[in-house]
Amino acid sequence: MSPVTSAFLPGMARPALSQPAMAALVADFAAELRSRPSPIDQPSDCRSWHRLHAGRDVDVWLLTWMRGPEAELHDHGDSREHFRVVAGQLTEVRASRAGGTTWQTLSAGQSRSVPVRAVHDVFNDHVEPAISIHAFSPPMSRMTFYERTAGRLRVTGHQWARRAEC
Ligand SMILES: [Fe+2]
Repeated sequence: MSPVTSAFLPGMARPALSQPAMAALVADFAAELRSRPSPIDQPSDCRSWHRLHAGRDVDVWLLTWMRGPEAELHDHGDSREHFRVVAGQLTEVRASRAGGTTWQTLSAGQSRSVPVRAVHDVFNDHVEPAISIHAFSPPMSRMTFYERTAGRLRVTGHQWARRAEC
């Protein structure tokens, strides 16, 4: 695994990786996973989380997704997310603060960066299980959840250090 250089980003109180460094880190974990393939751990719930790396400036998680409905629109507080599909397909919904949405289907090898405070949701709406790797930098400490009401986003709640719920 190649070394990743940590950097402070302007305006951020906690150390965080740059977006290119996060992309490189996730790509390294994906390559390592592909080099030693193992059967997909099929979770009994719609997704399972397994932490691959816990650092002061970044956490990396392996997620396994069964077919399931959309979860909840959310942001990651002051953390940026970068994720990459390793197997299967995932759908991402990105919501604007005005309530509009864009949808994108990601196949194995494709990745997305989710800026600080961007609102999105990810789910597997295909029969085949999916695997993805997600980095959060700085490590995620809070999520805010939303629903779309009358075409706008409305906050439904917050959760600190949420991990694995659908
Ligand atoms: Fe997310």
